[in-house]
Amino acid sequence: MENIRFYNGNEMPIVGLGTFRVENNDECKASVKHAIESGYTHIDTAMIYENEDKVGEGIAEGLASTGLKRSDLFITSKLWLDDYGRGNVEAAYETSLKKLNLDYLDLYLMHWPGTDEALMIDTWQGMEDLYKDNKVKNIGVSNFNVEHLEALLAQVSIKPVINQVEFHPYLLQEALRRYLEVQNIHMESWSPLMNAQILDDTTVKEIAEEVGKSPAQVIIRWNVEHGVVVIPKSVTPSRIEENLNVFDFKLTTTQIEKLDNLNEDRRIGPDPIGYNGH
Ligand SMILES: NC(=O)c1ccc[n+]([C@@H]2O[C@H](COP(=O)([O-])OP(=O)(O)OC[C@H]3O[C@@H](n4cnc5c(N)ncnc54)[C@H](OP(=O)(O)O)[C@@H]3O)[C@@H](O)[C@H]2O)c1
Repeated sequence: MENIRFYNGNEMPIVGLGTFRVENNDECKASVKHAIESGYTHIDTAMIYENEDKVGEGIAEGLASTGLKRSDLFITSKLWLDDYGRGNVEAAYETSLKKLNLDYLDLYLMHWPGTDEALMIDTWQGMEDLYKDNKVKNIGVSNFNVEHLEALLAQVSIKPVINQVEFHPYLLQEALRRYLEVQNIHMESWSPLMNAQILDDTTVKEIAEEVGKSPAQVIIRWNVEHGVVVIPKSVTPSRIEENLNVFDFKLTTTQIEKLDNLNEDRRIGPDPIGYNGH
């Protein structure tokens, strides 16, 4: 596993397990446990996924069966829009911790910028409070575009370490990636497989043939080549293993360019501008 390093010196594993649309049941617990047993040290969840309980049970069982320690793992959760406002952040964080049965998170994200800039800034100040009080290891944002980040950075004292956004070869996010690079803020991709839609792309399949890997592995490796943290979701044991097995090959510059050239600025999720959670 490779790590990326934040501006604050902390590190994050570049590949993790996504858990969106994984119901709060034994399949959720089993997928998280299987991921940890397969070598994943990074799990991504959110309050709004309503599965933090079972993710937490999977973490506990994975630690017990591997002998790993909590400090070997990197766990992310996210603050939902209904809990925005400086005065609400700590209680929401504590609720997530309780459900996950953890005493800290490695990364806590503001899930969306929302539609009220003053509330966005006020909420980030609540995130800063958590960080300054050493309750959370790192704080970041999700679904922020350049304008949201410009407004945030102009008004706050602690920068986010990362911005988790939709990213795949059909949505290259070039301007945002350049901006983040200049600001020394990392990027993390959600729906990296486009909910499996990108796996049927002819170019992706051709490159998979060339490198002797699966289309999913090619896409995950493409994220790694771009230095983007990537969190493919799967509840299928063989796919969970497959998605981590991306560190024994590289893509050539030509293959990376071919994938970059698939860009159509096409989203499968909401556009952050104007999105308030509904
Ligand atoms: N911050 C945000 O607003 C936000 C939004 C969306 C997602 N996320 C995060 O990003 C994570 C990933 O995104 P996502 O869940 O939307 O979708 P995704 O990872 O792009 O795709 C998941 C789909 O691909 C399938 N799949 C996984 N590995 C595969 C493989 N090797 N071969 C073939 N099919 C494979 C899965 O099937 P099976 O599970 O049936 O194997 C599932 O149907 C989420 O789980 C969540 O943690 C964040």
